[in-house]
Amino acid sequence: MRVAIGSDHGGFELKEKIKNYLLEQKITVVDYGTNSSESVDYPEYGEKVGHAVMNDHFDFGIVLCGTGIGISIAANKVEGIRAALIYDNETARLAKEHNNANVIAIGGRTTSYEKAISMINTFMKTSFEERHQRRLDKIKNIEGTNKK
Ligand code: RB5
Repeated sequence: MRVAIGSDHGGFELKEKIKNYLLEQKITVVDYGTNSSESVDYPEYGEKVGHAVMNDHFDFGIVLCGTGIGISIAANKVEGIRAALIYDNETARLAKEHNNANVIAIGGRTTSYEKAISMINTFMKTSFEERHQRRLDKIKNIEGTNKK
């Protein structure tokens, strides 16, 4: 399993803990920054992780900012990315089962370490349900058809 991870300063602390946990589980993790609690701009990290997931054979990506909102919006601008903000085990499960999310977003300032790990494990053990593929195809069709 290969996971791409990235955050801004608001998600930095939790990113580091998640990364260490995944490495302990013998999961390959590539960290796209940020590398300190110094203030940075979340769109850069959402974009980096999004590009990595689309181009570098990752199973999925994890992005974090203070709330998970801004960085999920940014990651979703990368063509092919379906980034889902998850906030409990139910949304973690449904993000895979219904949306086949290829990036999960977590709020670094709104989520405990224990909850984050539980959500990530839930996401990893869940499978996509093919009956939802039609909706994902419709999402895909939005890309490129709504440019100004
Ligand atoms: C940065 O202070 C904060 O706005 C960011 O981490 C995130 O929560 C944005 O959605």
